[in-house]
Amino acid sequence: TKGNFPHFMLKEIHEQGTAVKETLMSISTDPRVKEVLELLEGRVVVVAAGTSLHAGMVFSYALGKLLGKDVILLDSSEAYHLEKLLKDTVIAISQSGETYDTLKAVRIAKRNGAKVIGVVNVLGSTLDREADISLYTRAGPEIGVAATKTFLSQVTLLLYLVSRMSGVELKDPHLLVESSIRKSIGYARSLAERLKEKQSMFVLGTGASLPIAYEGALKIKEISYVHAEGYPAGEAKHGPIALAEEGFPVLIAWTPEDEEKLQVAKEEFASRGSEVYWVGPRGDIVAPESDWLHLPFTITPPFQLLAYYMAVLKGYDPDKPRNLAKSVTVH
Ligand code: M6R
Repeated sequence: TKGNFPHFMLKEIHEQGTAVKETLMSISTDPRVKEVLELLEGRVVVVAAGTSLHAGMVFSYALGKLLGKDVILLDSSEAYHLEKLLKDTVIAISQSGETYDTLKAVRIAKRNGAKVIGVVNVLGSTLDREADISLYTRAGPEIGVAATKTFLSQVTLLLYLVSRMSGVELKDPHLLVESSIRKSIGYARSLAERLKEKQSMFVLGTGASLPIAYEGALKIKEISYVHAEGYPAGEAKHGPIALAEEGFPVLIAWTPEDEEKLQVAKEEFASRGSEVYWVGPRGDIVAPESDWLHLPFTITPPFQLLAYYMAVLKGYDPDKPRNLAKSVTVH
């Protein structure tokens, strides 16, 4: 049930602290992790779709940055074109464990002799059954079509693996998530009022904030039906800046890694009349301070809440967006 919440999505956003905590507790005592860490020493390919793909981006960015390890990240709907890449260790990330494209990539990988690690929220799902080793996120059932608590649970599990590989510790992610929701909810609601009439917007990020910019843009499109495009802040000047004009909204996903780069992007758009809004500490939507590694826990909730309120204020049901199903089991 929705309990005291008007929608499952809002409830599930608020369950993220618990989901993250349970996932961390479960993965840190999971005996399968030992074998997974051994497999991760070799060549690693990640396949996933949608929000799960964004969790894969967080993983590959952290491994590249901390360990100089290059992970091949494939959008599962495209992976079959490159079937020769689907070998060695393949991590398939899927909340439902039923996404057709991801399962197709897994089956090719298995034919190629790969070891498949499934990162899955639904026990007994097809991916759970077909993977050689399953690691479970402990988000509990997610009813809203928009993935929220499963995303931060996937990020938690994957960053836990990174922490084991690098020795860099994950510090109380659930507290960050809870404080992020508390801090940002009022701001997200007011900004939704301003943005709900817009047709189109950019969500810019850089480094650790880029996967969250993509994820924020996906949430906004999916439930509020406003076109939102996630883009690397520095890349925006190579074409997208042509869209900048009076009133065109640009959201910036903050990261501590290179504020100056984000500032430059802001000036480029603002000087052409764009409305620029920051999501982060000292932002137009305020989120807690954090280092780059913990950034998904602090800046994801504000984007989810913004998307949620935009949908609700426009009169749409955020739990059941048009044209979408919870599991995409078609080709
Ligand atoms: O069940 P999966 O994690 O494999 O689903 C993948 C995508 O279909 C899913 O994340 C989709 O993008 C969500 N509706 C996004 O909110």
